[in-house]
Amino acid sequence: MPEKVIIFDTTLRDGEQTPGASLNVEEKLQIARQLELLNVDVIEAGFPFSSRGDFEAVKTVAREIRGCQVAALARANFQDIDAAWEAVKEATAPRIHTFISTSDIHLKYQLRKTREEVLEQAVAAVKHAARYCSNVEFSAMDAGRSDLEYVARVFTAVIDAGATTVNFPDTVGYTIPHEFGAKIRYLMEHVPNIHKAVVSVHCHNDLGLAVANTLAAIANGARQAECTINGIGERAGNASLEEIVMALTTRKDLFGLETGIVTQYLYPTSRLVSKLTGVVVQPNKAIVGANAFAHESGIHQDGVLKEASTYEIMTPQAVGIKKSSLPLGKLSGRSAFKAKLQDMGFYLNDEELNRVFARFKDLADRKKTVFDEDLVSLVETEVIYKSVPEYLKLEELVVLTGTMVKPNATVKMRVGGELKTVSEFGDGPIDATYKAITRLSPIKPRLLKFSVSSITGGTEALGEVSVRLEDDGYTVTGQGVDPDIVTASARAYINGLNRLKFSQEMGPKLGKPEEL
Ligand code: KIV
Ligand code: ZN
Repeated sequence: MPEKVIIFDTTLRDGEQTPGASLNVEEKLQIARQLELLNVDVIEAGFPFSSRGDFEAVKTVAREIRGCQVAALARANFQDIDAAWEAVKEATAPRIHTFISTSDIHLKYQLRKTREEVLEQAVAAVKHAARYCSNVEFSAMDAGRSDLEYVARVFTAVIDAGATTVNFPDTVGYTIPHEFGAKIRYLMEHVPNIHKAVVSVHCHNDLGLAVANTLAAIANGARQAECTINGIGERAGNASLEEIVMALTTRKDLFGLETGIVTQYLYPTSRLVSKLTGVVVQPNKAIVGANAFAHESGIHQDGVLKEASTYEIMTPQAVGIKKSSLPLGKLSGRSAFKAKLQDMGFYLNDEELNRVFARFKDLADRKKTVFDEDLVSLVETEVIYKSVPEYLKLEELVVLTGTMVKPNATVKMRVGGELKTVSEFGDGPIDATYKAITRLSPIKPRLLKFSVSSITGGTEALGEVSVRLEDDGYTVTGQGVDPDIVTASARAYINGLNRLKFSQEMGPKLGKPEEL
């Protein structure tokens, strides 16, 4: 049996440190459920001491997720560790992850402590955590820039104190693969009790080397990779989970290792994380980018048509990109539509199917070809993402715009069931539409982010809009799709407003970021 690399997903903790990507409890749980399907080994659900919202999120994920270990982050002090344990203790396999910096630069300027003081604090923290649970991870923050002989001493001491995983983070993304691999080799050879713990790495992407460094570490003995979906995270992000997993899978001949990841869930997970965080995936992103399996040049297309392996080192199906050969047209009925969705891996209940079918019919009337990608987007927006009650519901939108008129939007909308209509002028058609919707909405949020992308090529492509809204300390993402980008923008805004209203009604349980 090949040895296994433990996949430690920190999308919900380090990933959430991406600027503007905060998630509420409900969204974190949705991602955690998807990570469970993906079969990651460990979900780091948050940093409980940092906020009430994070505490609740970790507690909820720990209670609900049964198929993975759930980890909670804590600085190396008793208060943090107590909060981490309180939040994570109901998990089937709870883990406390405690950390302290080991680099001289952090010790001098941030902690203002000596090496001996930090070593003592690390040992005390691990002993305290080990009183609560047998699964304790210790991280030497900024290890990539730390004196290796000192890190080896710290690792030896924390393993004796009860750490079962020792993590070597390249916190600032400074190291280079052959150098990083050599550091791991050094630790494997100079920490006498290293066989009693799993060696882990946690790489940041400041020089674009996070995945390469992680693989170099694995080649030298590391057996846990900390990573995030789409590589999101602090600054330039973390090592991307899908890239590490597919490198290990595609080059099993070289590494001789395996992960437990169900790779067919990589693409759906990437889409979900992008939708809920509002962080878009660049088209040329490896594995999950829109162009990852697109062949543009004639020579490449010719090769792929003759034999896909000429230019494809893995198949789109292997990472869960859904394609179906069943034809679907404007005149297709509900059962053909259902069969098509099932062929693509979507099993919807009757109510969900009716909702998506109505959107499909509307789309087929307005758009020449409905692509598989369009259907995926409809299912995502109508079913996977639309999990809140529709207090606001768009009925009609009429927009007047052009070079000779001041843009005007008339919006007819149900507000708590009551039909209302207003008109507003704006600087552009979307501005006018948002002003009209805001007039009818009981919530007047701040628009933090607005992004539009097209799902397929061509001028009749579906437009996908994502907005980030904030009101009274609550932040949510709204999504909308439509061939008309003004309508897609209206749908995204209304979806966001419904999510805000729902979050506010549920109160802090759904993630108001109150400080503890
Ligand atoms: O980058 C880092 O060092 C971290 C630690 C808390 C593991 O995120
Ligand atoms: Zn980090």
